[in-house]
Amino acid sequence: MTNGETPNNPFETIAANEAEQIAALGELTVKLQDMRYTAKGTDVLRGVHPKSHGCVRAFFDIRHDIAEDLRVGLFAQPGRHYEAWIRFSNAAVRVGPDLKDGENDSRGMAIKVLDVEGEVLLEDHGRQSQDFLMINTPAFAFANVEDYLRLNRILLENDDQATMFFAPLQANVPGITPEQKARIFNSFKVVQEIKAKPVANPMEVRYFSGAPFLFGPERAMKFAAIPWGGEKAPQTLPDPASDDYLREALLARMRRKEDVCFDFAVQVRGPGPDLGIEDATSVWDEAAVPFRNVATVTIPAPQNAVDAPRRRAICERLVFTPWHSLAAHQPLGSINRLRKAVYLASKKHRGGGKGRRKKRPR
Ligand code: HEM
Repeated sequence: MTNGETPNNPFETIAANEAEQIAALGELTVKLQDMRYTAKGTDVLRGVHPKSHGCVRAFFDIRHDIAEDLRVGLFAQPGRHYEAWIRFSNAAVRVGPDLKDGENDSRGMAIKVLDVEGEVLLEDHGRQSQDFLMINTPAFAFANVEDYLRLNRILLENDDQATMFFAPLQANVPGITPEQKARIFNSFKVVQEIKAKPVANPMEVRYFSGAPFLFGPERAMKFAAIPWGGEKAPQTLPDPASDDYLREALLARMRRKEDVCFDFAVQVRGPGPDLGIEDATSVWDEAAVPFRNVATVTIPAPQNAVDAPRRRAICERLVFTPWHSLAAHQPLGSINRLRKAVYLASKKHRGGGKGRRKKRPR
């Protein structure tokens, strides 16, 4: 399925040269980790999202009133209760201040729903989990494997500076087609959206899958986590904001004796011409395809252990990938196919999951 062959679903179109590009990106991921960490003699961290604001234990409950047509895969059984881990992070490829030069970064929320039943695509150290990886904008900043490869080559050659990726918007760059240029412009717009999006507390904003996933054999979904009461607005940042103000906000919230809750919601569509499956910068219009609630995410509070050394160590060991998934929710599209190899490469190189105990969250 991932090697330029015929897809196993009615949604994907796989470019002929994709397998080579994905292999090149697997190698680049490791080279970039070496540039950032091995060369400096420090511990190797995640290829992306290395900075964690905190890992919290949580519950993932399928709604009792879930609509009949949404009872699919993980959501098949109304009222089903799961334990989960959630990691909140910054997307930036290096650990640094939450506001770098005063600019906002893309923020991540990754949910690992534990011990799911059914056919899975990839096991997590002998266990079955359904991982939902999200960012705080509806679009991912890069459309497909081709663009991500160009970006990663630029990062490696320019000590992690991505500016050259956008150079074709200012001047003619040999080898860039009009289609590529249009995609680069879309990436530029998403990056501007990210920079314009302040987050005061990682537990008070919406998160989105960006990319699409299967919802049973004949439908596709995008998913989101929506804090109860909606995204708190405005997101007023502390002034001055410390380098780790998001961790501080998360810890302060976890000291309060009031659970944090999110609705977990899905947009679901059948096959069609305008789904943008192969373009992760595309967004499904919420007015046309509304998000429908399927589950509730509860983060019990207080959770004073969040900042304890043991919890921090567990947090570093956790391994999330969209391919820790039920077959019913198979990741779709170019960017998602790429993620299979790259997350594994990143995990392997950083030793993720080592020593992970078969215990439930505490
Ligand atoms: C819709 C697109 C994407 C979303 C929503 C997304 C989201 C995330 C999130 C939230 C994490 C943090 C997981 C954690 O807490 O451990 C993460 C990690 C990571 N992402 Fe992505 N990501 C996307 C696309 C990509 C792409 C295209 C690549 C590169 C091919 C990539 C590479 C990685 C890597 C290497 C990690 C660290 C994996 C590890 O070492 O455990 N991501 N991503």
